[in-house]
Amino acid sequence: MGGYFMVKRFAVILAAGQGTRMKSKLYKVLHPVVGRPMVQHVVDQLQAVQFDQLITVVGHGAEQVIEKIGNQSEFVIQDEQLGTGHAVLKTEDLLGNEEGTTIVVCGDAPLITSETYKALLDYHEQEGAMATVLTANTSDPAGYGRIIRNESNQVERIVEHKDANEAELLITETNAGTYCFDNKALFAALKNVSNDNVQGEYYLPDVIEILRSQSEKVSGFLTTDFDETIGINDRVTLAQAEKIMKRKINEQHMRNGVTIIDPDHTYIGLDVTIAQDVIIQPGTMITGVTSIASGAEIGVGTEIDHCIIGESAVISHSVLKDSHIGKQAVVGPYANIRPESTIGDHAKVGHFVEIKKSTIGNNSKVPHLSYIGDAEIGRNVNVGCGTITVNYDGKDKYATEIGDHAFIGCNTNLIAPVKIGEGSYVAAGSTINKDVPSEALGIARARQVNKLDYARSVKNQKKD
Ligand code: UD1
Ligand code: CA
Repeated sequence: MGGYFMVKRFAVILAAGQGTRMKSKLYKVLHPVVGRPMVQHVVDQLQAVQFDQLITVVGHGAEQVIEKIGNQSEFVIQDEQLGTGHAVLKTEDLLGNEEGTTIVVCGDAPLITSETYKALLDYHEQEGAMATVLTANTSDPAGYGRIIRNESNQVERIVEHKDANEAELLITETNAGTYCFDNKALFAALKNVSNDNVQGEYYLPDVIEILRSQSEKVSGFLTTDFDETIGINDRVTLAQAEKIMKRKINEQHMRNGVTIIDPDHTYIGLDVTIAQDVIIQPGTMITGVTSIASGAEIGVGTEIDHCIIGESAVISHSVLKDSHIGKQAVVGPYANIRPESTIGDHAKVGHFVEIKKSTIGNNSKVPHLSYIGDAEIGRNVNVGCGTITVNYDGKDKYATEIGDHAFIGCNTNLIAPVKIGEGSYVAAGSTINKDVPSEALGIARARQVNKLDYARSVKNQKKD
């Protein structure tokens, strides 16, 4: 609520455009940037500023947008996309009678921060302007509206790229598509916007020229960071936005004491918390609500989604989802930890091991080539190479329990449901379909028979 002069503040997000240049079935503003729909970034940053009303203009058939943003915004529908000015007019029923400041932003500019929005609003209100446009300088202004200033450097009007003459095309100061207006002046001026231009659209930026012609005060607020203002119109700019935001996230973690060996090839989501002295190796992607405790080493080539990683755990070349990894645990190379798994402290899940919905107790080891599904494994257990929990009979899943200190020999099948008692042994190569009591040895394999002199007799037969 309130700003410098404690005036009411309103925000309008323009998100009704069809996004034809994306060439996508997905509504443009729903395309994700670092895993979050671009319009959601805009809503999040605006929420941090606080407004008396926040309204999003959406196009026909934008149910998905409304569903995504939910009760964080009010919505108005712009059935036909006749231009950004026309889109703002659609909010007249909700805003037309209000006194205050209205900020209009584009749903396709996900990198603008709440700090920039705040600074723009404060500047606009301090200046007592009727309109203030957010601008930025770039060496490559193609596609953007250009800011036309007069001899005294005041903003006169904005010309769209497609309508610009040769001299105007050389202007490097661009319209970010974000503006503050005196609310009453905005709606009055919108009535005078025509669609007499190359695109036949009602341009919101024309409001600037209209206010100037009425000798109203119009300001420009130049940000030094053009990157923050980029608008996403196609997949090329989408990738640019992803890169810029990824870099910002990574830099923040590095400043907080995280080592990121190759930030260009490290993807960290917005809901990831990383403690000091974590090392992230190249080719790593960390998403969802994930937290990583200090001293852990993550990667090379690891995907972690929605996990809690304990202190000094070491994870490489692995995929982990919805799971909990204990401190000083070792995962990988080439492990797949599937949802609802817990790997204990100091435990090891090694080469080519798949763990699904299972608990591996503290200090236990599943070092090589195993499938462990629906299992509860106690502490200090050694699971030999190639051990398989046979948890599925084609219809239902069954549980395996292995008690503390048990030792499972290599290449064992544990046919679930089955319990291996505490401190027991299972002989290598066994197919276990009955419980093994504590401290016992379970052995379930054919006895070996050696046929002596067999080879020589075969060779002699051949000679005959
Ligand atoms: C717009 C500006 C341009 C500015 C650029 C910044 C206009 C005429 N041009 O151009 O000066 O440099 O943004 O990125 O405003 N939208 C609607 N309804 C419509 C048309 C568009 O809601 O009828 C929405 C779109 O969903 C989008 C935003 O408005 O989020 C901007 O529209 P877009 O078509 O992307 O405008 P640009 O050509 O990028
Ligand atoms: Ca755009």
